[in-house]
Amino acid sequence: MAGGGDKVDYVFKVVLIGDSAVGKSQILARFARNEFSLDSKATIGVEFQTRTLVIEHKSVKAQIWDTAGQERQVPSLSAFRRSDHGGYRAVTSAYYRGALGALLVYDITKRQSFDHIPRWLDELRGHADKNIVIMLVGNKSDLEEERAVSTEDAKEFAEKENLFFLETSALQATNVENAFQTVLTEIF
Ligand code: GTP
Ligand code: MG
Repeated sequence: MAGGGDKVDYVFKVVLIGDSAVGKSQILARFARNEFSLDSKATIGVEFQTRTLVIEHKSVKAQIWDTAGQERQVPSLSAFRRSDHGGYRAVTSAYYRGALGALLVYDITKRQSFDHIPRWLDELRGHADKNIVIMLVGNKSDLEEERAVSTEDAKEFAEKENLFFLETSALQATNVENAFQTVLTEIF
């Protein structure tokens, strides 16, 4: 237990990234408050929530950052960057600054959200610390009948890129705890 007055030994910043509607905010709601909402609204700007947990007898405060996937859904991220006058880069840099872990999220029922993962990975590797711990997350595993990305394809990609990989369901609370625990323990 880590209540209000307990000391925190470490604060670890972890960022959530991925296309709009893949379930980033609901993964965070599940992890931080054990809540889930089916009519979740698209995130505007940047938000973060914290949860303190014990890892190897130390109190670790996880500070999880969440932002909109939407404004990044452009045909070519690099073309978008070239046409930008600095605002995008500044916000992006602030988002990744100091992050020790990242959950790179796609929706197993939306092939496009998986096809965009290399771009998110480029952005992450371009802005974040070299040693950042990255977990590829295939969310909405409860929608097995609508699956558009095989577990094998994702696993293969994760191995090639040296990422951890899990399929989660924020709705059913499957593997959400496991995903954060794995990243936080690895940072530790
Ligand atoms: P942006 O903020 O726009 O980037 O989207 P987001 O990635 O934060 O998505 P959000 O968490 O708002 O979820 C989008 C929709 O997917 C909502 O209707 C959620 O209820 C739903 N959703 C999220 N996770 C799951 C899941 O595990 N299973 C199912 N079936 N639906 C989910
Ligand atoms: Mg969101």
